[in-house]
Amino acid sequence: MAFDVAGRVIFITGAASGIGAGIAEIFAGEGATVVAADLSADRLADEVTRINGLGLRGTVHAAKLDVTDAAEVDRILEAVAAEHGGIDAVVNSAGIFIDIDPHEIDTDAVRRVMEVNFFGTLNVCRSATRHLVARRGSLVNLATGGLDRPLPPQLAYVASKAAVVELTRTMALALGRDGVRVNAVAPGYIDTPMIRRNHTLPDGTLSAEWEQQLEAYRSYSPLHVVGEPSDVAWCVVYLVSDEAKFVTGQTFRPNGGFVVPR
Ligand SMILES: NC(=O)c1ccc[n+]([C@@H]2O[C@H](COP(=O)([O-])OP(=O)(O)OC[C@H]3O[C@@H](n4cnc5c(N)ncnc54)[C@H](O)[C@@H]3O)[C@@H](O)[C@H]2O)c1
Repeated sequence: MAFDVAGRVIFITGAASGIGAGIAEIFAGEGATVVAADLSADRLADEVTRINGLGLRGTVHAAKLDVTDAAEVDRILEAVAAEHGGIDAVVNSAGIFIDIDPHEIDTDAVRRVMEVNFFGTLNVCRSATRHLVARRGSLVNLATGGLDRPLPPQLAYVASKAAVVELTRTMALALGRDGVRVNAVAPGYIDTPMIRRNHTLPDGTLSAEWEQQLEAYRSYSPLHVVGEPSDVAWCVVYLVSDEAKFVTGQTFRPNGGFVVPR
């Protein structure tokens, strides 16, 4: 069977929501043992219950984790490896977005974005290395299609993800001799709570402008679509699978073609 990841132990951060949750569900559907980690314990518990309730071949376990806490990351990965007999793949999907006005840069906000998106990913890569070397495993980091087509308010966000891409490339170089592959995925607009946040009202409903915003996102794509978490998740399944054994140091771009010049 192609893309066979059944029985593999996959650790995913940011798995309580959006793309991370989508990746957890697709891997569970393929028979993997998934450890879903997130800062938000309540949302994580709900998501894990939801996925396990689907009756898929694999199972999902929850791990409350703040990726910015290096000691906690070490502890959790150690515990996961001990409980499941090792870790075959790690996916860094935890991330935040903060709008920045380039005319009046809020450096504290930039630091917060770097702290989660870059240092959080770095902490997990650092702690995961030993476990992945032991299994000749695979690392996948979430970047962004904004690297190819940035917008001004994404100033901190794209800088943090550019750093993630370079981290990915250098780690691929360093770990190749250990048989560990390291890649990034840079999605275009994916319909998740992250892109809905600025349009979500206090009662959880969406603002009147949301439909207009969604249409703007669609218009970036020659296919006139916004992606779903599963569009990213299948790329990650490929990258983790043995079929991708020749692929490392790359950034995959599931983006609906939104970078094609017009
Ligand atoms: N949605 C998009 O259009 C899009 C496009 C390109 C890239 N991405 C990237 O994909 C990843 C997932 O995005 P999403 O759209 O699913 O976002 P999301 O907001 O729906 O989910 C992000 C998850 O990360 C968790 N998180 C935040 N800080 C954390 C921390 N310190 N420790 C642990 N978990 C933490 C959140 O609790 C949340 O559950 C992010 O890295 C994002 O930058 C998203």
